[in-house]
Amino acid sequence: MDKQAITNLLKKMSTKEKIYQLVQLAGGFYSEDEAVVTGPKEKLGISDEAIANVGSILNVRGAEETRALQKNYLAKSDAKIPLLFMADIINGYDTIFPIPLGQGATWNPELIKAAAAVAAEEAAVSGIHVTFSPMVDLVRDPRWGRVMESTGEDTYLNSVYAQSFVEGYQGEMIVGKNVAACVKHFAAYGAPEGGREYNTVDMSERNMREYYLPAYQAALKAGAKMVMTSFNTVDGIPATGNKWLNQDVLRKEWGFEGILISDYAAIKELEDHGIAEDAEQAAKLALEASVDIDMMTSVYAKNLEKIVVKDSEMAKLLDQSVLRILELKNELGLFENPYRGADTEKAKAVILSKDNRKLARKVVSESLVLLKNQEVLPLKSTQKIALIGPYATSPFLSGSWSFSLKTERTVTLEQAFSEVLPAENLLVAPGCLTVEPELIEASFGQYFPAEKTLFDEEGELVKALEAARKSDVVVMAIGEHYLQSGEGGSRGELTLPRVQQKLISAIKALGKPMVGVVFSGRPLELKAELPLFDSLLTVWFPGTEGGHGIADVVFGKVNPSGKLSMSFPYSVGQVPVHYNEFNTGRPLTESGHSKRFTSRYTDMPNKPLFPFGFGLSYTTFSYCDFKLSETQLVPGDKITATVEVTNSGKIAGTETVQLYIRDLVGSIVRPVKELKGFQKIFLQPKETRKVSFEITEEMLRFYTRELTYQSESGEFTVFIGSNSEVAKGINFILCK
Ligand code: NOJ
Repeated sequence: MDKQAITNLLKKMSTKEKIYQLVQLAGGFYSEDEAVVTGPKEKLGISDEAIANVGSILNVRGAEETRALQKNYLAKSDAKIPLLFMADIINGYDTIFPIPLGQGATWNPELIKAAAAVAAEEAAVSGIHVTFSPMVDLVRDPRWGRVMESTGEDTYLNSVYAQSFVEGYQGEMIVGKNVAACVKHFAAYGAPEGGREYNTVDMSERNMREYYLPAYQAALKAGAKMVMTSFNTVDGIPATGNKWLNQDVLRKEWGFEGILISDYAAIKELEDHGIAEDAEQAAKLALEASVDIDMMTSVYAKNLEKIVVKDSEMAKLLDQSVLRILELKNELGLFENPYRGADTEKAKAVILSKDNRKLARKVVSESLVLLKNQEVLPLKSTQKIALIGPYATSPFLSGSWSFSLKTERTVTLEQAFSEVLPAENLLVAPGCLTVEPELIEASFGQYFPAEKTLFDEEGELVKALEAARKSDVVVMAIGEHYLQSGEGGSRGELTLPRVQQKLISAIKALGKPMVGVVFSGRPLELKAELPLFDSLLTVWFPGTEGGHGIADVVFGKVNPSGKLSMSFPYSVGQVPVHYNEFNTGRPLTESGHSKRFTSRYTDMPNKPLFPFGFGLSYTTFSYCDFKLSETQLVPGDKITATVEVTNSGKIAGTETVQLYIRDLVGSIVRPVKELKGFQKIFLQPKETRKVSFEITEEMLRFYTRELTYQSESGEFTVFIGSNSEVAKGINFILCK
């Protein structure tokens, strides 16, 4: 359809038809099952008429399912405008990739783009039109369960990945290949107080603009078609009813013309926040804030009519919202073909294909971060290996966002190890449950899947000890339960579950070399485990090809190259701990004050256990001959920073060379370091490569005292190294 046809369509629509376009319901509302229908329907108090005419559907998957729903809908609805199908395709559709925090550790934007393209294709042939991804919320607090969905703590790195995700999903918007991206959660959802899910966010506009907003903006610059609001408050006003945030910043300042969707029930929650007296006021606030779609409540369906009838300005806003929805439907070609890419046959060929699995395996191996290695890794197939711990045999390797997870298609560690080792060299014993059964009942609620709760604790421990005794080396597959992270997965403690701590101590007492393979949806507190293990590898929730990707690294087929994109705290007491902190007036080092009166803890270090950018390799890299081409920079010009990196070890490996800059004096306080660039290089043993970065005035801009985005003349320090703690810098002056 052309633009005029869309406008004509809008003109023909009744007010009710328009309003229903703004409503999104879950697929359950269209189920034949009476119990499913009456339960949620009653809860929402939504009419049959609204259900029959909504504009979009949430989380229905599968070519057959979406086709059937669309067909039925078009037969029954009044306006006969095709439905949009949206879903959470977070780290893959059926081929599950590592969780986004793991993808963040690859420092490989091209690879992440390729993974997103695979997810998009699998989703597209299954009838999905929009993915609720990427989540680009900046995160500094690992207590928050949703850090697993973020690519980490850094503004620059998150922005780079935001672009990769959007480009991967959307590509050229080809039918059967691409889906529209919905960037979320706008804004600053990643900073809830105390790391507690859905809790208050309160930060200065400066902090938000400088660190939190750029990644959303990067996703929009890359062309993301949709934005999702966040549940939290922004300067005292919930994001979903926040006119300043959505109208002034998102639409006017940034020029976003696409669809803004509320998060799940977030419009209704304006009442719970205490900013709306009733549903009518909630609807008004949300529409005034230009929220186009009401996800999973009846607030718009039941209240917008009375609002627009008495207020022509609100009626205009309604029209604008409908137009945005129709435009996306039109862009996706739904008016010509309401089934778009949904194709059962193609789905069979594409989903979980050999190529997709191959890519997933590669992403896994690049996402693993080697935290410690005292020469135990890589293992050899001639060694007798005891694979112990709850993740030895577990197929739950995909994190909490893999709805269509097929556990039988997931490669477990046991399976992957058995492909490498002769049978007599592999001894497997889980040894304990992932978490204490009491915790399961108390905390995970109805969603907890069938893990064996009937478990012979003592018997399993005995088997694990026996296996360890017979082995040359123990690999302990440990970590948090996958439902301990994700939405609703906040934790007050970041340690391993107690049952696992007990198992580790018992095995350690045997004195065998121990390798820890740690699964998690967040940075864990590993200070107690660090001395117990000879080698430690953090593996996130790696997804469908998890076992293979981990085995590739453990047995040395792939040399690990992952680098943390979020600091691992020494203790939960340090949180939030991130590399780009301020110096304070009393820094721990170089302060004129006695140590007592410097900014520090009396009972623990200031530094995290493993900093941002950190990750070891089976080889070593040395840096030398670091220099800058100039000592002065003027706008329009550039300085080249170069360094020579040598693979000083015995095997080939990949290093991520990182560029950081510090602005020494500003009109506002500036961080001690900020990531400004990185390059991943592959080096053969003894090979040396010269790595160069260009530094321009644009890279030095920030929100100054007046909140204008610009650079300031003065002195800067450049650092190049293998993680954020690189100390040696060279200065230059910016002259404007
Ligand atoms: C709530 C989550 O916050 C959001 O990220 C997700 O996309 C929606 N639910 C839809 O499932």
